[in-house]
Amino acid sequence: MLAGKHILLIIGGGIAAYKSLELIRLLRTAGAQVTPVLTKAGSEFVTPLSISALAGSKVYSDLFDLGDEAEMGHIQLSRVADLVVVAPVTADLMAKMASGLASDLASTLLLATDTPVLMAPAMNVRMWEHAATQRNLATLQGDGIAVVGPNAGDMACGEYGPGRMAEPAEIMAAIDAQLGQGPLTGKRVLITSGPTHEPIDPVRYIANRSSGAQGTAIATALAALGAEVVFVTGPADVPPPSGVHVIRVETAHQMLDAVQAALPCDAAVFAAAVADWRVASASDSKLKKTKDGLPALTFAENPDILHTVAQMTKGRPALVVGFAAETDDVLANATAKRARKGCDWIVANDVSPETGIMGGAENAVTLISDSGSESWPRMGKDAVAAQLAQRIADALGRAP
Ligand code: CTP
Repeated sequence: MLAGKHILLIIGGGIAAYKSLELIRLLRTAGAQVTPVLTKAGSEFVTPLSISALAGSKVYSDLFDLGDEAEMGHIQLSRVADLVVVAPVTADLMAKMASGLASDLASTLLLATDTPVLMAPAMNVRMWEHAATQRNLATLQGDGIAVVGPNAGDMACGEYGPGRMAEPAEIMAAIDAQLGQGPLTGKRVLITSGPTHEPIDPVRYIANRSSGAQGTAIATALAALGAEVVFVTGPADVPPPSGVHVIRVETAHQMLDAVQAALPCDAAVFAAAVADWRVASASDSKLKKTKDGLPALTFAENPDILHTVAQMTKGRPALVVGFAAETDDVLANATAKRARKGCDWIVANDVSPETGIMGGAENAVTLISDSGSESWPRMGKDAVAAQLAQRIADALGRAP
Protein backbone atom coordinates (compact mmCIF):
# COMPACT_ATOMS: atom_id res chain seq x y z
CA MET A 1 0.00 0.00 0.00
CA LEU A 2 1.14 3.50 -0.78
CA ALA A 3 -1.22 5.37 1.51
CA GLY A 4 0.27 8.71 2.51
CA LYS A 5 2.85 8.58 -0.31
CA HIS A 6 3.05 11.31 -2.89
CA ILE A 7 4.32 10.60 -6.42
CA LEU A 8 5.32 13.30 -8.87
CA LEU A 9 4.73 11.56 -12.21
CA ILE A 10 6.42 13.06 -15.25
CA ILE A 11 4.97 11.74 -18.50
CA GLY A 12 7.31 12.10 -21.46
CA GLY A 13 6.48 11.89 -25.15
CA GLY A 14 6.14 8.43 -26.61
CA ILE A 15 3.54 5.90 -27.53
CA ALA A 16 4.14 4.26 -24.13
CA ALA A 17 2.54 7.33 -22.50
CA TYR A 18 -0.79 5.54 -22.73
CA LYS A 19 0.50 3.02 -20.16
CA SER A 20 1.01 5.89 -17.72
CA LEU A 21 -2.75 6.25 -17.48
CA GLU A 22 -2.92 2.71 -16.10
CA LEU A 23 0.02 3.51 -13.82
CA ILE A 24 -1.89 6.47 -12.38
CA ARG A 25 -4.89 4.22 -11.80
CA LEU A 26 -2.74 1.65 -9.98
CA LEU A 27 -1.06 4.33 -7.88
CA ARG A 28 -4.38 5.81 -6.85
CA THR A 29 -5.82 2.39 -6.06
CA ALA A 30 -2.80 1.77 -3.83
CA GLY A 31 -3.62 4.97 -1.97
CA ALA A 32 -0.90 7.24 -3.38
CA GLN A 33 -1.40 10.88 -4.21
CA VAL A 34 -0.30 11.63 -7.79
CA THR A 35 0.78 14.99 -9.14
CA PRO A 36 1.16 14.67 -12.91
CA VAL A 37 3.49 16.64 -15.15
CA LEU A 38 3.03 16.28 -18.89
CA THR A 39 5.75 17.27 -21.34
CA LYS A 40 4.80 18.99 -24.58
CA ALA A 41 5.67 15.83 -26.51
CA GLY A 42 3.73 13.72 -24.01
CA SER A 43 0.61 15.78 -24.71
CA GLU A 44 0.75 14.53 -28.31
CA PHE A 45 0.02 11.03 -27.01
CA VAL A 46 -2.27 11.48 -23.98
CA THR A 47 -4.54 14.36 -23.09
CA PRO A 48 -4.29 16.46 -19.91
CA LEU A 49 -7.98 15.82 -19.39
CA SER A 50 -7.66 12.03 -19.10
CA ILE A 51 -4.61 12.39 -16.86
CA SER A 52 -6.23 14.85 -14.47
CA ALA A 53 -9.42 12.79 -14.36
CA LEU A 54 -7.49 9.69 -13.33
CA ALA A 55 -5.04 11.47 -11.05
CA GLY A 56 -7.67 13.63 -9.43
CA SER A 57 -5.18 16.47 -9.72
CA LYS A 58 -4.23 19.41 -11.86
CA VAL A 59 -1.79 18.52 -14.65
CA TYR A 60 1.33 20.68 -14.76
CA SER A 61 2.65 21.20 -18.22
CA ASP A 62 4.37 24.50 -18.87
CA LEU A 63 7.28 26.03 -17.02
CA PHE A 64 6.24 29.49 -18.10
CA ASP A 65 2.61 29.24 -17.11
CA LEU A 66 2.31 32.14 -14.72
CA GLY A 67 -0.83 30.68 -13.22
CA ASP A 68 1.14 27.63 -12.10
CA GLU A 69 3.96 29.77 -10.79
CA ALA A 70 1.48 31.69 -8.66
CA GLU A 71 -0.10 28.48 -7.44
CA MET A 72 3.02 26.37 -6.96
CA GLY A 73 6.47 27.36 -8.17
CA HIS A 74 8.54 24.79 -10.03
CA ILE A 75 11.01 24.47 -7.17
CA GLN A 76 8.21 23.79 -4.75
CA LEU A 77 6.64 21.34 -7.21
CA SER A 78 9.92 19.45 -7.44
CA ARG A 79 9.90 18.95 -3.67
CA VAL A 80 6.31 17.90 -2.98
CA ALA A 81 6.72 14.20 -3.58
CA ASP A 82 8.28 11.21 -1.85
CA LEU A 83 9.39 9.96 -5.26
CA VAL A 84 9.65 11.40 -8.76
CA VAL A 85 8.70 8.86 -11.44
CA VAL A 86 9.45 9.57 -15.10
CA ALA A 87 7.37 7.22 -17.25
CA PRO A 88 7.97 7.10 -20.08
CA VAL A 89 11.36 8.75 -20.18
CA THR A 90 12.43 9.35 -23.77
CA ALA A 91 15.97 9.41 -25.18
CA ASP A 92 15.60 13.17 -25.43
CA LEU A 93 14.58 13.63 -21.80
CA MET A 94 17.35 11.28 -20.64
CA ALA A 95 19.86 13.39 -22.59
CA LYS A 96 18.52 16.55 -20.96
CA MET A 97 18.69 14.97 -17.51
CA ALA A 98 22.20 13.64 -18.07
CA SER A 99 23.52 17.01 -19.15
CA GLY A 100 21.64 19.01 -16.51
CA LEU A 101 19.47 21.01 -18.89
CA ALA A 102 16.48 22.89 -17.54
CA SER A 103 14.77 23.79 -20.78
CA ASP A 104 11.20 22.85 -19.93
CA LEU A 105 9.15 22.09 -16.85
CA ALA A 106 10.03 18.37 -16.70
CA SER A 107 13.80 18.84 -17.01
CA THR A 108 13.70 21.80 -14.61
CA LEU A 109 11.89 19.76 -11.97
CA LEU A 110 14.35 16.91 -12.43
CA LEU A 111 17.27 19.27 -11.97
CA ALA A 112 15.72 21.00 -8.97
CA THR A 113 14.42 17.99 -7.09
CA ASP A 114 16.01 16.60 -3.96
CA THR A 115 13.81 13.49 -3.90
CA PRO A 116 14.75 10.11 -5.37
CA VAL A 117 13.97 9.61 -9.04
CA LEU A 118 12.84 6.44 -10.83
CA MET A 119 12.67 6.39 -14.61
CA ALA A 120 11.05 3.95 -17.04
CA PRO A 121 12.69 4.34 -20.46
CA ALA A 122 10.73 3.75 -23.67
CA MET A 123 12.15 4.24 -27.12
CA ASN A 124 13.09 2.53 -30.36
CA VAL A 125 15.60 -0.28 -29.85
CA ARG A 126 18.32 1.45 -31.92
CA MET A 127 17.88 4.63 -29.91
CA TRP A 128 18.13 2.65 -26.67
CA GLU A 129 21.25 0.82 -27.82
CA HIS A 130 22.89 3.94 -29.24
CA ALA A 131 26.17 4.77 -27.53
CA ALA A 132 24.85 8.23 -26.59
CA THR A 133 21.80 6.82 -24.77
CA GLN A 134 23.87 4.18 -23.02
CA ARG A 135 26.33 6.89 -21.98
CA ASN A 136 23.45 8.99 -20.63
CA LEU A 137 22.04 5.95 -18.83
CA ALA A 138 25.38 5.32 -17.12
CA THR A 139 25.60 8.99 -16.12
CA LEU A 140 22.08 8.98 -14.70
CA GLN A 141 22.65 5.77 -12.79
CA GLY A 142 25.86 7.24 -11.47
CA ASP A 143 23.75 10.17 -10.27
CA GLY A 144 21.63 7.72 -8.30
CA ILE A 145 18.61 7.59 -10.58
CA ALA A 146 16.83 4.23 -10.47
CA VAL A 147 15.73 2.55 -13.68
CA VAL A 148 12.96 0.07 -14.40
CA GLY A 149 13.00 -1.60 -17.83
CA PRO A 150 13.00 -1.24 -20.71
CA ASN A 151 11.69 -4.67 -21.62
CA ALA A 152 12.49 -6.55 -24.78
CA GLY A 153 9.70 -7.34 -27.21
CA ASP A 154 7.81 -6.25 -30.31
CA MET A 155 7.79 -2.50 -30.54
CA ALA A 156 5.14 -0.12 -31.84
CA CYS A 157 7.62 0.90 -34.57
CA GLY A 158 7.70 -2.69 -35.88
CA GLU A 159 11.18 -3.55 -34.61
CA TYR A 160 12.10 -6.04 -31.92
CA GLY A 161 14.38 -5.69 -28.91
CA PRO A 162 14.82 -3.76 -25.67
CA GLY A 163 12.96 -0.45 -25.69
CA ARG A 164 9.40 -1.20 -24.55
CA MET A 165 8.47 0.61 -21.39
CA ALA A 166 8.11 -1.67 -18.35
CA GLU A 167 4.52 -2.67 -17.68
CA PRO A 168 2.60 -0.53 -15.16
CA ALA A 169 2.63 -3.41 -12.63
CA GLU A 170 6.43 -3.63 -12.91
CA ILE A 171 6.75 0.12 -12.43
CA MET A 172 4.49 -0.17 -9.37
CA ALA A 173 6.81 -2.85 -7.96
CA ALA A 174 9.80 -0.60 -8.61
CA ILE A 175 8.02 2.30 -6.90
CA ASP A 176 7.32 0.09 -3.89
CA ALA A 177 10.96 -0.95 -3.82
CA GLN A 178 12.15 2.66 -4.08
CA LEU A 179 9.92 3.60 -1.18
CA GLY A 180 11.33 0.72 0.85
CA GLN A 181 8.11 -1.24 0.57
CA GLY A 182 9.00 -3.94 -1.96
CA PRO A 183 8.21 -7.54 -1.01
CA LEU A 184 11.95 -8.26 -1.10
CA THR A 185 13.08 -5.14 0.75
CA GLY A 186 15.64 -6.20 3.33
CA LYS A 187 16.33 -9.51 1.56
CA ARG A 188 19.66 -10.34 0.02
CA VAL A 189 19.59 -12.50 -3.11
CA LEU A 190 22.55 -13.96 -4.95
CA ILE A 191 22.38 -14.83 -8.62
CA THR A 192 24.86 -16.47 -10.97
CA SER A 193 24.54 -15.73 -14.66
CA GLY A 194 26.16 -16.10 -18.06
CA PRO A 195 28.67 -18.65 -19.30
CA THR A 196 32.06 -19.42 -17.85
CA HIS A 197 35.23 -19.40 -19.92
CA GLU A 198 37.77 -22.09 -19.17
CA PRO A 199 41.21 -21.31 -20.56
CA ILE A 200 43.13 -23.66 -22.82
CA ASP A 201 46.03 -21.25 -23.13
CA PRO A 202 46.32 -17.44 -22.86
CA VAL A 203 44.37 -16.89 -26.10
CA ARG A 204 41.92 -19.81 -26.29
CA TYR A 205 39.12 -20.96 -24.04
CA ILE A 206 36.20 -23.36 -23.78
CA ALA A 207 32.82 -21.64 -23.53
CA ASN A 208 29.12 -22.16 -24.18
CA ARG A 209 26.28 -20.29 -25.88
CA SER A 210 24.72 -18.71 -22.78
CA SER A 211 24.06 -14.99 -23.38
CA GLY A 212 23.32 -14.18 -19.74
CA ALA A 213 19.94 -12.72 -20.77
CA GLN A 214 17.80 -14.82 -18.44
CA GLY A 215 20.05 -14.31 -15.40
CA THR A 216 20.23 -10.59 -16.08
CA ALA A 217 16.45 -10.36 -16.35
CA ILE A 218 16.03 -12.24 -13.06
CA ALA A 219 18.48 -9.94 -11.29
CA THR A 220 16.59 -6.92 -12.64
CA ALA A 221 13.25 -8.35 -11.50
CA LEU A 222 14.56 -9.18 -8.03
CA ALA A 223 16.01 -5.69 -7.62
CA ALA A 224 12.69 -4.22 -8.77
CA LEU A 225 11.02 -5.98 -5.85
CA GLY A 226 13.45 -4.34 -3.47
CA ALA A 227 16.05 -7.10 -3.01
CA GLU A 228 19.68 -6.34 -2.48
CA VAL A 229 21.07 -8.33 -5.42
CA VAL A 230 24.57 -9.74 -5.74
CA PHE A 231 25.05 -10.60 -9.41
CA VAL A 232 27.96 -12.94 -10.13
CA THR A 233 28.39 -13.07 -13.87
CA GLY A 234 30.62 -14.83 -16.34
CA PRO A 235 31.53 -13.10 -19.63
CA ALA A 236 27.98 -12.54 -20.91
CA ASP A 237 26.72 -10.93 -24.13
CA VAL A 238 24.21 -8.68 -22.41
CA PRO A 239 25.32 -5.89 -20.08
CA PRO A 240 24.71 -6.45 -16.34
CA PRO A 241 21.60 -4.83 -14.90
CA SER A 242 21.54 -1.52 -13.08
CA GLY A 243 21.11 -1.19 -9.36
CA VAL A 244 22.75 -4.48 -8.43
CA HIS A 245 26.15 -5.38 -7.04
CA VAL A 246 28.03 -6.86 -10.03
CA ILE A 247 30.92 -9.31 -9.59
CA ARG A 248 32.56 -10.33 -12.85
CA VAL A 249 34.30 -13.68 -13.12
CA GLU A 250 35.61 -15.82 -15.90
CA THR A 251 35.99 -19.41 -14.76
CA ALA A 252 33.86 -21.82 -12.72
CA HIS A 253 36.43 -21.74 -9.91
CA GLN A 254 36.30 -17.95 -9.77
CA MET A 255 32.49 -18.12 -9.79
CA LEU A 256 32.48 -20.50 -6.82
CA ASP A 257 34.87 -18.24 -4.90
CA ALA A 258 32.70 -15.19 -5.63
CA VAL A 259 29.54 -17.03 -4.58
CA GLN A 260 31.07 -18.20 -1.32
CA ALA A 261 32.35 -14.71 -0.58
CA ALA A 262 28.85 -13.28 -1.21
CA LEU A 263 27.12 -15.54 1.34
CA PRO A 264 25.12 -15.40 3.54
CA CYS A 265 21.99 -14.52 1.62
CA ASP A 266 18.28 -15.24 1.86
CA ALA A 267 17.94 -16.83 -1.58
CA ALA A 268 20.33 -17.90 -4.31
CA VAL A 269 19.44 -18.39 -7.98
CA PHE A 270 21.90 -20.31 -10.14
CA ALA A 271 21.18 -19.27 -13.70
CA ALA A 272 24.78 -19.50 -14.95
CA ALA A 273 25.73 -22.03 -17.59
CA VAL A 274 28.83 -23.21 -15.77
CA ALA A 275 31.31 -25.27 -17.77
CA ASP A 276 31.35 -28.79 -16.35
CA TRP A 277 34.97 -29.31 -17.29
CA ARG A 278 38.11 -27.26 -17.53
CA VAL A 279 41.41 -28.08 -19.19
CA ALA A 280 43.37 -29.80 -16.44
CA SER A 281 46.53 -27.81 -16.94
CA ALA A 282 45.95 -24.77 -19.08
CA SER A 283 49.14 -23.73 -20.83
CA ASP A 284 50.83 -20.48 -19.74
CA SER A 285 51.96 -19.87 -23.27
CA LYS A 286 50.14 -20.17 -26.56
CA LEU A 287 49.97 -23.72 -27.89
CA LYS A 288 51.79 -23.86 -31.24
CA LYS A 289 51.18 -26.11 -34.21
CA THR A 290 53.88 -28.75 -34.29
CA LYS A 291 54.82 -31.54 -36.61
CA ASP A 292 54.09 -33.97 -33.76
CA GLY A 293 50.32 -33.83 -34.34
CA LEU A 294 47.32 -32.33 -32.59
CA PRO A 295 47.47 -31.19 -28.97
CA ALA A 296 45.75 -33.54 -26.55
CA LEU A 297 43.62 -31.75 -23.98
CA THR A 298 43.01 -33.47 -20.68
CA PHE A 299 39.93 -32.34 -18.79
CA ALA A 300 39.28 -31.98 -15.08
CA GLU A 301 35.87 -31.66 -13.48
CA ASN A 302 34.81 -28.21 -12.32
CA PRO A 303 33.22 -27.67 -8.91
CA ASP A 304 29.43 -27.82 -8.97
CA ILE A 305 28.51 -24.45 -7.46
CA LEU A 306 24.79 -25.10 -7.08
CA HIS A 307 25.41 -28.46 -5.43
CA THR A 308 28.01 -26.97 -3.10
CA VAL A 309 25.63 -24.25 -1.87
CA ALA A 310 22.53 -26.47 -1.75
CA GLN A 311 24.37 -28.99 0.44
CA MET A 312 25.65 -26.45 2.97
CA THR A 313 24.75 -27.48 6.50
CA LYS A 314 25.46 -24.05 8.01
CA GLY A 315 24.41 -20.77 6.43
CA ARG A 316 22.51 -22.32 3.52
CA PRO A 317 20.21 -19.77 1.85
CA ALA A 318 16.55 -20.37 2.79
CA LEU A 319 15.75 -20.85 -0.88
CA VAL A 320 18.13 -22.36 -3.44
CA VAL A 321 16.97 -22.26 -7.06
CA GLY A 322 18.76 -24.08 -9.86
CA PHE A 323 18.25 -24.19 -13.59
CA ALA A 324 18.25 -27.28 -15.75
CA ALA A 325 19.27 -26.76 -19.33
CA GLU A 326 18.21 -29.93 -21.12
CA THR A 327 17.86 -31.12 -24.68
CA ASP A 328 16.13 -34.48 -24.05
CA ASP A 329 13.55 -35.79 -21.55
CA VAL A 330 13.44 -32.31 -20.04
CA LEU A 331 11.09 -33.03 -17.16
CA ALA A 332 12.59 -36.35 -16.10
CA ASN A 333 16.16 -35.07 -16.33
CA ALA A 334 15.33 -31.86 -14.47
CA THR A 335 13.48 -33.69 -11.72
CA ALA A 336 16.45 -36.01 -11.24
CA LYS A 337 18.80 -33.01 -11.33
CA ARG A 338 16.84 -31.27 -8.56
CA ALA A 339 17.22 -34.32 -6.33
CA ARG A 340 20.90 -34.80 -7.24
CA LYS A 341 21.81 -31.19 -6.55
CA GLY A 342 19.63 -30.82 -3.46
CA CYS A 343 18.11 -27.49 -4.47
CA ASP A 344 14.59 -26.42 -3.47
CA TRP A 345 13.38 -25.46 -6.93
CA ILE A 346 14.64 -26.17 -10.37
CA VAL A 347 13.67 -24.15 -13.42
CA ALA A 348 13.80 -26.51 -16.37
CA ASN A 349 14.12 -25.39 -19.94
CA ASP A 350 14.60 -27.08 -23.28
CA VAL A 351 17.72 -25.66 -24.88
CA SER A 352 17.59 -27.74 -28.07
CA PRO A 353 18.73 -25.51 -30.96
CA GLU A 354 15.26 -25.57 -32.59
CA THR A 355 13.69 -23.90 -29.53
CA GLY A 356 15.87 -20.80 -30.03
CA ILE A 357 15.94 -20.38 -26.24
CA MET A 358 19.68 -20.35 -25.60
CA GLY A 359 20.79 -16.91 -26.70
CA GLY A 360 17.21 -15.95 -27.65
CA ALA A 361 14.73 -13.48 -26.12
CA GLU A 362 12.10 -15.98 -24.99
CA ASN A 363 11.94 -18.91 -22.64
CA ALA A 364 9.51 -21.72 -21.89
CA VAL A 365 10.15 -23.09 -18.43
CA THR A 366 8.79 -25.64 -16.01
CA LEU A 367 9.17 -24.86 -12.32
CA ILE A 368 9.80 -28.02 -10.31
CA SER A 369 9.49 -27.93 -6.53
CA ASP A 370 8.32 -30.09 -3.67
CA SER A 371 4.77 -29.43 -4.73
CA GLY A 372 5.27 -30.85 -8.23
CA SER A 373 5.91 -29.31 -11.62
CA GLU A 374 4.28 -26.32 -13.24
CA SER A 375 4.81 -25.45 -16.91
CA TRP A 376 4.66 -21.77 -17.78
CA PRO A 377 3.71 -20.68 -21.31
CA ARG A 378 6.49 -19.51 -23.60
CA MET A 379 7.09 -15.82 -22.90
CA GLY A 380 9.80 -13.18 -22.92
CA LYS A 381 12.75 -13.78 -20.58
CA ASP A 382 11.72 -10.55 -18.77
CA ALA A 383 8.28 -12.00 -18.09
CA VAL A 384 9.73 -15.32 -16.86
CA ALA A 385 12.03 -13.31 -14.60
CA ALA A 386 9.20 -11.19 -13.19
CA GLN A 387 7.11 -14.28 -12.44
CA LEU A 388 10.04 -16.10 -10.83
CA ALA A 389 10.99 -13.06 -8.74
CA GLN A 390 7.41 -12.80 -7.48
CA ARG A 391 7.47 -16.50 -6.56
CA ILE A 392 10.73 -15.99 -4.69
CA ALA A 393 9.19 -13.03 -2.83
CA ASP A 394 6.17 -15.16 -1.92
CA ALA A 395 8.38 -18.01 -0.69
CA LEU A 396 10.66 -15.76 1.36
CA GLY A 397 7.58 -14.03 2.74
CA ARG A 398 6.46 -17.42 4.06
CA ALA A 399 9.92 -18.40 5.35
CA PRO A 400 10.30 -18.13 9.14
N1 CTP B 1 25.73 -25.57 -12.08
C1 CTP B 1 26.67 -25.08 -11.20
N2 CTP B 1 27.96 -25.48 -11.30
C2 CTP B 1 28.34 -26.35 -12.25
C3 CTP B 1 27.38 -26.86 -13.18
C4 CTP B 1 26.10 -26.44 -13.06
O1 CTP B 1 26.32 -24.27 -10.33
N3 CTP B 1 29.60 -26.72 -12.33
C5 CTP B 1 24.33 -25.17 -11.91
C6 CTP B 1 23.76 -24.34 -13.04
O2 CTP B 1 23.92 -22.96 -12.78
C7 CTP B 1 22.30 -24.76 -13.03
C8 CTP B 1 22.35 -26.19 -12.57
O3 CTP B 1 23.58 -26.36 -11.91
O4 CTP B 1 21.57 -24.04 -12.05
C9 CTP B 1 22.23 -27.22 -13.66
O5 CTP B 1 23.12 -26.93 -14.72
P1 CTP B 1 23.10 -27.82 -16.01
O6 CTP B 1 24.14 -27.32 -16.95
O7 CTP B 1 21.69 -27.94 -16.52
O8 CTP B 1 23.44 -29.23 -15.43
P2 CTP B 1 24.78 -29.95 -15.12
O9 CTP B 1 25.04 -29.88 -13.66
O10 CTP B 1 25.85 -29.43 -16.00
O11 CTP B 1 24.42 -31.45 -15.46
P3 CTP B 1 24.37 -32.20 -16.89
O12 CTP B 1 25.65 -31.84 -17.58
O13 CTP B 1 24.27 -33.61 -16.50
O14 CTP B 1 23.14 -31.71 -17.61
